[in-house]
Amino acid sequence: MLLIANYEGRSGTQLAAEFLAKKTNGLRAIIEGIKLVEANLDIHTVGMSSWPNILGELQLDASVMDGNTRRTGAVGALRGFKHPVEVAYRVLSDIHHEILVGEGAERFAHEIGALRAKNETELSLKMWQKHLAEVLTPDQASKFPNLRLLDVKSEAIDPEKMFDTTVYLSLDHEQRISSATSTSGWGWKYPGRLGDSPIIGAGSYADSRYGACACTHTGEMTIRAGTARSVVLYLKMGLSVEDAVYEAARDLTALETGYLAEVTIHAIDKAGNYKVVGLNSSEEIKYVVWQPGMQSPEIHSAEILRL
Ligand code: GLY
Repeated sequence: MLLIANYEGRSGTQLAAEFLAKKTNGLRAIIEGIKLVEANLDIHTVGMSSWPNILGELQLDASVMDGNTRRTGAVGALRGFKHPVEVAYRVLSDIHHEILVGEGAERFAHEIGALRAKNETELSLKMWQKHLAEVLTPDQASKFPNLRLLDVKSEAIDPEKMFDTTVYLSLDHEQRISSATSTSGWGWKYPGRLGDSPIIGAGSYADSRYGACACTHTGEMTIRAGTARSVVLYLKMGLSVEDAVYEAARDLTALETGYLAEVTIHAIDKAGNYKVVGLNSSEEIKYVVWQPGMQSPEIHSAEILRL
């Protein structure tokens, strides 16, 4: 058994580890862990009280993948519900689609009776207003929001860019490998922007025959490189988990245009090996590990790879 999560996701790891230790299905274990992070008002990159888009709305993304069946469920730009990761799971379990976005995702969440929430809090709106006050010219401020949002510089200034996204990977007692993600994406993002978290193959992928991978930071890059799927394919081709992650990092480095920044790759294999690498990270990257025999999840430091 094994649990890997990124550092921002740490508040749910004790619960997920307890579920895994009790031989719960690994996908359910990591969903329950992530739900605690979604409800955590002190984490501003996922769920309640995270930083909204440029219009002040919280549009949340999440995904799940069962590595036994390779069924997935994902939601993008979901508004008004407390647990996007649970809605993503219900896409997997209740409908013959793999991803729902926007109004369709909200209608689905309503139809399954998902828990509603006003995720925008006083703090998240205050931070958004502070950001607007810094970036809008007086003319733009007088017109807002009826102006070209394209003209409002909103990219690459996310205050929590280094810490975005909650990602969990698990290997359970039946050797099932699962992945799950949840995020508010970039603070001040353009409305409708999806990152890699709801894009299976980019921000996460799980296949019980080989392993799983999930990424944080710059989704714009992992979408283009298909990073999570690539890592699992490299495992299938016989690479070690370490070499699979390095190879995917080289793929990311080969991107020469577009928005280029840091990416962290988390990966596990079916034997319970794991590797976490922060590609070109300017700061220390931590992550969480739990395995049987550990009293509670441990915080480790990722290898920083400069390519
Ligand atoms: N990695 C999360 C995002 O780009 O939204």
